[in-house]
Amino acid sequence: MADRYRIRAATSADLSAVAGIERASFDDPWSLASFRHHLADLFLVVEQGEGVLGYLIACRLGPEAEILNVAVTTAARRRGIAHALLDAALAQLAGAGVRRVFLEVRLSNAAARRLYERAGFAEVGRRRGYYHRPREDALVLARAVDHPARPA
Ligand SMILES: CC(C)(COP(=O)(O)OP(=O)(O)OC[C@H]1O[C@@H](n2cnc3c(N)ncnc32)[C@H](O)[C@@H]1OP(=O)(O)O)[C@@H](O)C(=O)NCCC(=O)NCCS
Repeated sequence: MADRYRIRAATSADLSAVAGIERASFDDPWSLASFRHHLADLFLVVEQGEGVLGYLIACRLGPEAEILNVAVTTAARRRGIAHALLDAALAQLAGAGVRRVFLEVRLSNAAARRLYERAGFAEVGRRRGYYHRPREDALVLARAVDHPARPA
């Protein structure tokens, strides 16, 4: 890569780029309005130069959180970007007091399943027929997050 990417909080100015990556990544994409709604949650984007390369959205409920969406633009895949997004999100969630993080993944999504496995997630359940277009089961994955060391 020419210059290094950076991870930052999303703003409304990122939403059309994010929605474009979403449409290229999923058969059943979120709407722009859904992304706008989640600006109130943990919503990270990866930026390089002027361009958005990927995003991650998570929402927190007390000591638990759920990763709701992750995608990387096709041209920037397999460069560690999703892994870096997960690391950044897990660090922020840990700092906010979250102890356990959940997510759902399509049974057939081998790339995402491998990504999450490498990031320490393990299967804790299955939701039958959870996804539409095409209809498919979801695996529910989870991992514990450690609290960051607090200064003495
Ligand atoms: C899944 C996705 C987010 C991965 O993004 P990425 O930036 O390419 O992932 P990374 O480069 O950080 O990969 C981290 C690890 O995940 C695994 N992985 C990622 N893509 C993979 C693929 N196509 N095949 C197999 N393993 C893959 C690998 O173990 C990889 O580590 P390695 O490259 O050292 O082997 C991306 O493929 C994507 O946007 N897919 C469409 C949207 C989607 O499915 N999102 C997840 C919904 S649950």
